[in-house]
Amino acid sequence: MPLVAFAHILFHLYKKVSHQAPRILLTGGAGYIGSHTFVKLREAGIEPVILDNFANSHPAVVDRLAQITGAPVLLERGDVLDQPFVEDVLRRHAPAGVIHLAGDKAVGESVAQPLKYFRSNIGGAISLLQAMEAVYLPVGALGAPLLVFSSSATVYGDPATVPITEDFPRGHTDPYGHTKLVIEEMLDAVRAAQPAWRIGVLRYFNPAGAHPSALIGEDPNGTPANLMPYLTQVAIGRLPHLRVFGGDYPTPDGTGVRDYIHIQDLADGHVVALRALQRTGESFTVNLGTGRGYSVLDVVKAFVDATGRPVPYRIVDRRPGDVAQCYADPSRAKALLGWEARHTLEQMCADAWRWQQRNPQGYATGAA
Ligand code: UFG
Repeated sequence: MPLVAFAHILFHLYKKVSHQAPRILLTGGAGYIGSHTFVKLREAGIEPVILDNFANSHPAVVDRLAQITGAPVLLERGDVLDQPFVEDVLRRHAPAGVIHLAGDKAVGESVAQPLKYFRSNIGGAISLLQAMEAVYLPVGALGAPLLVFSSSATVYGDPATVPITEDFPRGHTDPYGHTKLVIEEMLDAVRAAQPAWRIGVLRYFNPAGAHPSALIGEDPNGTPANLMPYLTQVAIGRLPHLRVFGGDYPTPDGTGVRDYIHIQDLADGHVVALRALQRTGESFTVNLGTGRGYSVLDVVKAFVDATGRPVPYRIVDRRPGDVAQCYADPSRAKALLGWEARHTLEQMCADAWRWQQRNPQGYATGAA
């Protein structure tokens, strides 16, 4: 058979399969968590439709996702705040559910520009929920509304003890965290008013690492605020040294303790959450963490061990708003979803470093 005819058949087969695969709307699908979740969804036979305005992501992600998964990407470029647009997207793709990741996430920026965060995160959630209400309620051919929401361990504020279970009191220490808390409360009210909603709230701890292909990874705008991308940029020479924020916390070595979770495990969490909502129809809230806390100096050591790169650091003042310790009790996610994190801190370091090496300037580096 001539090659062209064969390619033609393959293309039509793909169209048929992709048409049949159940669709999911993935807001913020071009971002760090969204892109890894996209790959996991496709691997699970689900066709994600990305809705993204590329405000904090790079359009090159789309080609990388096609490269990893071997098929074109369904993309709706636009803003989640644009409710008529979201409604139109929902009507055209008729997704079985929505995974809502779009939003702003820089804690420091949220302190300086709180209104930006209230508008983008809370406004974005209201716009999406109202669009979903218009399309899925009253319950019709499309089924009951189904939503997986990206919340954060930040809704625990400064926890009284660790590990943290989902029943801990909620709080916030900055406007970004406040937006996550308000959205969770909005979702509680929506569920109470309309029991048809199926809502899975995922409270992420500290995502780190990258896809093993090093084609996608974390690419923050400007100087990284988070530990792992800061570390990799020090290791590659873009930044002179790591500033360790505080050496006098009541922790074993005096530095802050967090629950770092491999981005691949976190992405898996979205697929199992979706499946559980579809299977049981029961809403839930779960922590997605490993249950292990590592200090900043533990992470530096793991990074040096995994990569062989020296990481100069200096201990400086505490960063305002930081808590001493924050790590999960992840047992509810295991019991409810059968999910648990598998990757080690060393794997997070090795994968983050591979991504940084192959993409020294992030996605702006060009083809990997
Ligand atoms: N840290 C440093 N130097 C840096 C960056 C971070 O010492 O340059 C320390 C922090 O003080 C903290 C730890 O590394 O002890 C982790 O800090 P990150 O900024 O990477 O992460 P946070 O725990 O502060 O915050 C993250 C996300 C938030 C989320 C929160 C939930 O950035 O979006 O986890 O706990 F809400």
